[in-house]
Amino acid sequence: MQGLKDKRILITGASSGIGAGMAKVLARKGCRLVLHYNRNQSGIEQTLKKVKEFGVQAEIIRCDFKQLNELENFFNQAWSIYDGLDGLVNNAGIVTKSTALNDALGEQFAETLAVNLQAPYQLSTAFANACIQAKQPGAIVNNSSIHGQATCEWFSAYAASKMGLDAITKVQAVEWGQFGIRVNGLAPGVVPVERTQHILNEPSMEAKWCERMPAGRYGTTEEMGEATAYLLSDATQWMTGSVLTIDGGLIARGNYPVR
Ligand SMILES: NC(=O)c1ccc[n+]([C@@H]2O[C@H](COP(=O)([O-])OP(=O)(O)OC[C@H]3O[C@@H](n4cnc5c(N)ncnc54)[C@H](OP(=O)(O)O)[C@@H]3O)[C@@H](O)[C@H]2O)c1
Repeated sequence: MQGLKDKRILITGASSGIGAGMAKVLARKGCRLVLHYNRNQSGIEQTLKKVKEFGVQAEIIRCDFKQLNELENFFNQAWSIYDGLDGLVNNAGIVTKSTALNDALGEQFAETLAVNLQAPYQLSTAFANACIQAKQPGAIVNNSSIHGQATCEWFSAYAASKMGLDAITKVQAVEWGQFGIRVNGLAPGVVPVERTQHILNEPSMEAKWCERMPAGRYGTTEEMGEATAYLLSDATQWMTGSVLTIDGGLIARGNYPVR
């Protein structure tokens, strides 16, 4: 992949899971990184240690995205580390289950929308404004989900946030194309991470999920990192406003029974 060496990339939610996988892959390709975390300090230190093994520059920076009024300051700090950024990966997110039974007042719904949708909106807007002012191009990758396309019970907040993220991916791509700023999304399927592996790697659960996937297995955080690198690289210079589904074929199968 061309065009990644020395690129300055901010990855949100790099303290575990997919964000940590993205950091590792982008470091291997020579990017300089700003790694964001919220609560998991030992996780971000581990990510930092791994990326430094590739000999690249990396810094860590903390912010709680539920505190939306702190985002401007957070972004300005991230931008100033390398005197600018070439790419923004909006990866941080929370998976919540909201129903009438457990979220009657919609508090969890609002919190999910804040972290998964409002925060990426504000960060992308800050990034675009900074790029326009600096007269430089930029690339944004929004980590969405297959729940942006098809969903199920309990996921009203999560699915709304990801469907909304896919919508702003398209609108912002349309608005900022004229400034050389590309905006694309990634829609991962089921990728075991620290948070979920105890459930997903249980053999009966794994069999249930994987029989529905034409690829026959879960995805890996490294594969999500490779897809992110592709979306940030020169290989996708003409790609904007797209959401790349990377799910082992789960969505393509739909609800047809396994024969
Ligand atoms: N794993 C999957 O199967 C899958 C599938 C589709 C989409 N995704 C998406 O992938 C992204 C990463 O999720 P993951 O599965 O890798 O889970 P994860 O390991 O739990 O990572 C979530 C990241 O988001 C950060 N975060 C959580 N709440 C935050 C807050 N209030 N403010 C700022 N940052 C916050 C966490 O930071 P701290 O831990 O430091 O607080 C962590 O770095 C999410 O957007 C998720 O929707 C995951």
